[in-house]
Amino acid sequence: FCCYICTGIASSFSSSFGIALDIDGVVLRGSTPIDGSSQALRRLYASDGTLRFPFLFLTNGGGTPESKRASELSRLLEVDISPLQVVQGHSPFKGLVSRFENDLIVAIGKGEPAEVMSEYGFKKVLSMDEYVSYFGDIDPLSQYKTWEVKQISKSITNSKPPDSVPRYNAHRSRVQAAFIVSDPVDWGRDIQVLCDILGSGGLPGEENGAQPSLFFAADDLEYPAAFCRERLGMGAFRLALECIFNRISRNPLQYTSFGKPNPFVFKNAEAILKQLRSRICSNFQNENAFTTLYMIGDNPSVDIIGTEKAGRPWFSILTRTGLFRGEGNHSQFPADLVVDTVEEAIDYILRREG
Ligand code: G3P
Ligand code: MG
Repeated sequence: FCCYICTGIASSFSSSFGIALDIDGVVLRGSTPIDGSSQALRRLYASDGTLRFPFLFLTNGGGTPESKRASELSRLLEVDISPLQVVQGHSPFKGLVSRFENDLIVAIGKGEPAEVMSEYGFKKVLSMDEYVSYFGDIDPLSQYKTWEVKQISKSITNSKPPDSVPRYNAHRSRVQAAFIVSDPVDWGRDIQVLCDILGSGGLPGEENGAQPSLFFAADDLEYPAAFCRERLGMGAFRLALECIFNRISRNPLQYTSFGKPNPFVFKNAEAILKQLRSRICSNFQNENAFTTLYMIGDNPSVDIIGTEKAGRPWFSILTRTGLFRGEGNHSQFPADLVVDTVEEAIDYILRREG
């Protein structure tokens, strides 16, 4: 099988394209594929199931390691997706390993935030659930919560952590950084304990110290999920934390947010698309520029503004299946093209590139 991108542009290896796809509101709503998304993706594969055109998922969501998310997406969308094709909001946290490799860090959010960070190479990671379990009474509302949380230890006031789990002496070591890996589940507790960690210099209950680092995987105010109206995202959590922290602390909250619309996310996506392109066709080298890189998204203030900031060869396509439902283009952040569905977007790209 000689791929289309090799034969189609044999006269000039400087011509090629790649596609970045948003997940929530473009291909999935909750965990249900949006109509036609699976069929549309299938067009990016050859009949033997191998990748025909370089594409990846560029999502601000996360909470599971990229390898696991790739298997999940493959199952839901019925195409073979490799971990390299999954770029999540927290994927750039990998780049911070050398800075915090042996420091105690806390990972917050739905799913498996600590597993994500351990897989990236961080050595001393505790999820917020585990961290909280080192401190008796830190959450005055815990007795009212009916769900079970993963505990690494019983409260230090009750007993020692079991021998089978690593002991970080969380109640004695200072936390050097907190990472909001995915949407937090227990906002009240997480805001309380983050205020404790960040306001005390990394050790709840101690005297004030310099604020530990704080990183957010993304800053989306809202996102489309299974409910008929958009849901509050990580950006909403950040606002709530910031507002409360700034009222009770001497110094304003310091933090860094990753994810779209930061231009480096698009630079990174381009580098990965080049790797995928050379897997499909070894004639392409990394120095061969793309003619066009398509970003298909649903959120004008995240996906479309991000594509715009990334500059050419990026080209934005806005779908009407997620946050944006307008009839024409978005007035503040207009896309290069507006279509109803991802199916229509892929159809447009393949016809344009055909
Ligand atoms: O929590 C997910 C949300 O922030 C957005 O995900 O795929 O639309 O970038 P996505
Ligand atoms: Mg989206």
